[in-house]
Amino acid sequence: MKTYKDLPADGGSNIIGQVTQQVNRLQQRLASVRHIVAIMSGKGGVGKSSVTANLASALGLRGHSVGVIDADINGPSIAKMMGVRGQRIDYGDDGVKPALSPLGVKVMSMDLFLKDDETPVLWEAQTQKDAFTWRGTMEMSALREFLSDTEWGSLDYLLIDLPPGTDRLPNLVDLLPNLGGTVVVTIPSGVSQLVVKKSLTMAKKLLNAPVIGVVENMAAYVCADCGKTEDLFPSGHTEEMARQFDVSLLGKIPFDPRISIASDEGSVFVDQHRDTPAGRTLIALAEKIEAFFNHEV
Ligand SMILES: Nc1ncnc2c1ncn2[C@@H]1O[C@H](COP(=O)(O)OP(=O)(O)OP(=O)(O)O)[C@@H](O)[C@H]1O
Ligand SMILES: [Mg+2]
Repeated sequence: MKTYKDLPADGGSNIIGQVTQQVNRLQQRLASVRHIVAIMSGKGGVGKSSVTANLASALGLRGHSVGVIDADINGPSIAKMMGVRGQRIDYGDDGVKPALSPLGVKVMSMDLFLKDDETPVLWEAQTQKDAFTWRGTMEMSALREFLSDTEWGSLDYLLIDLPPGTDRLPNLVDLLPNLGGTVVVTIPSGVSQLVVKKSLTMAKKLLNAPVIGVVENMAAYVCADCGKTEDLFPSGHTEEMARQFDVSLLGKIPFDPRISIASDEGSVFVDQHRDTPAGRTLIALAEKIEAFFNHEV
């Protein structure tokens, strides 16, 4: 069997040149970004995108310039959550201009390129099997383009909302050699954490960046009438997991229906409800991320 090394030439496409050019472009673009943070979890639906959107806004409220990339190419949700859905994408002299959230956070998502709610992202391939094989590669190419072709300007923080699963992590290492750290989101359920633990193992082993810590989402329910807090799941699992992996527990965000309502409306929960248990936890999370990069912890 022949490998790529046996190929006499690249058919004139100068593939090596193209790749080198892309890598250089990516490095140049990210040179003006101080800290890159990936928000991840092996588990789906635990609140990665909600935490990303609110953390980005909380950092913005604290005076930082912030960008967000929705790396969930097949199930993008950040644009809606951050109230930029429907904004027209403009092309500047030096790339694509990101959408701007009401709080001034720069957002890039595949959603901004889809023409309506029902349009899925389809990867063109000869067969479904090929489409499956190429999906990961194409997702990473799309992410690379989001990173390198967007006019980010100078940013204090660039947050990356990763899709569920751990299979993209190895590619992330190649793409982002200067990743600053990861935040792992979980819910308190022991069953969910079986999956989250796998992503923690992968992150610690594969990434050349530290796990900044774990965030427990949907930790408890606060009664809107009496203010009493009730656990939604048996508590203690997240503390145990954080101990087992020797990572910090950055905060416990209670279940608050207003988080979901705000996402659906494209308004920012943390801005509107700063003085609630969930709002305070999200602001404290932003402070902990700052402290991490200021080497205060
Ligand atoms: N603390 C919370 N209180 C109430 N609702 C929440 C909370 N966190 C997230 N949600 C809601 O739960 C749903 C799933 O959240 P989200 O989309 O952020 O999860 P995700 O981990 O990004 O999902 P996916 O794996 O599909 O990317 C959303 O409808 C969101 O509004
Ligand atoms: Mg998501």
